Amino acid sequence: MARRAKSSTQLRHSDRAFLGRSSDPDDLEIVRSEGSFVFDAHGERYIDFVMGWCVGNLGWAPAEVHAAVERFRGPDYVEPSALYKPWVELASLLAAIAPGRLRKSFRATGGTEAVELALQAAQSFTGRKKFVAIADAYHGNSIGVKALGRRTIKPPLDGAALQRVERALQRRDVAAFIMEPVICNLGALAPDEEFMRGLGELCEEFGTLLIFDEVACGFGRTGRLFASEHFDVEPDIVCLAKAITAGVMPMGATIMTDEVADGLDDDFSFYSTYGWHPRSVAAAIANVKFWKRHGKAILANVVARAEEFEARLGAIDFGCAAEVRVKGLAIGIEFEDEGYAEKLQERCRKAGLLISADDDMAMLFPALTIDEKTVARGIDILEGCASS
Ligand SMILES: Cc1ncc(COP(=O)(O)O)c(C=O)c1O
Repeated sequence: MARRAKSSTQLRHSDRAFLGRSSDPDDLEIVRSEGSFVFDAHGERYIDFVMGWCVGNLGWAPAEVHAAVERFRGPDYVEPSALYKPWVELASLLAAIAPGRLRKSFRATGGTEAVELALQAAQSFTGRKKFVAIADAYHGNSIGVKALGRRTIKPPLDGAALQRVERALQRRDVAAFIMEPVICNLGALAPDEEFMRGLGELCEEFGTLLIFDEVACGFGRTGRLFASEHFDVEPDIVCLAKAITAGVMPMGATIMTDEVADGLDDDFSFYSTYGWHPRSVAAAIANVKFWKRHGKAILANVVARAEEFEARLGAIDFGCAAEVRVKGLAIGIEFEDEGYAEKLQERCRKAGLLISADDDMAMLFPALTIDEKTVARGIDILEGCASS
């Protein structure tokens, strides 16, 4: 025990000395992950209800995706201007599963880059500069993406909010409206169908492109392959990342309709040195093929497990008012008490369960392949920590 404590202390010391971070690390040294579990340096097992924040949707170490990367014998790297057959294969696979008329994929390394690319494409296509987003939404970390907070629509996202959208778009100077169709970053906040239908109509009326950021909610998270499928509205551009490779390699993608892709300025360019790295492409192709073969069963599991979460979380006495939101396996619990979620997170970690927390919100994003027993065990831990 003393030796363990010493090695953790040393690591923490070196971490502080050499790693740039915006906040202190959690007290958890992860050395292995498998299915719905991660293991720390002391061999302790944790149930993972975060999955890297919507990254490991198929559970950690998905065999088919790992095998594809291990089998990979292609080039180390392909220069963006060259031809590379697997790029075309992946782009055509994505076009086949993407919602609506989305067809042309642009290559990116992750979510921020995919969103940046979408925003630049919208400016290029419309000749306009402005954007509108949802208040307090998160779409990534670049200066451009962070500037999205300037013009926003505040939830609730219902019929009444459409008047505010109309006011924001009616000057015809907005290049794009961007949102997550189910807002994972605001604790699985799902807009009303009326809002989404009206939003699509207003964007069309005022020549504003509609960008859906499916970086977190894509690849089955909300019970449909893409969260936009819950609504009767077709986006012009969709951004993907995170679960696009099931967490095995980094990647982002921005998919546009032919109309948008063909209408970009001649001088539009988006160079990404590592965008769609060959090994990432091998992982993404294996992931998409896995979804094509097993998607129905995975989504059925999402629906069944979501019912269990909804029933049990709704019955927990958290000791303060709490609103539970469940959309597939995107789950948010908003507490009345600021700081409660972070205390709960800490207690859960000590008891062997990982959850995500931000201010007054706890968020759960379990693997879409999680079984009934692990859900029950995880919620038992959560319940024990809520009332302790
Ligand atoms: C909805 C959404 N968009 C974009 C991003 C940025 O993705 P990345 O961290 O891969 O740049 C995130 C990251 O959490 C996200 O949740």
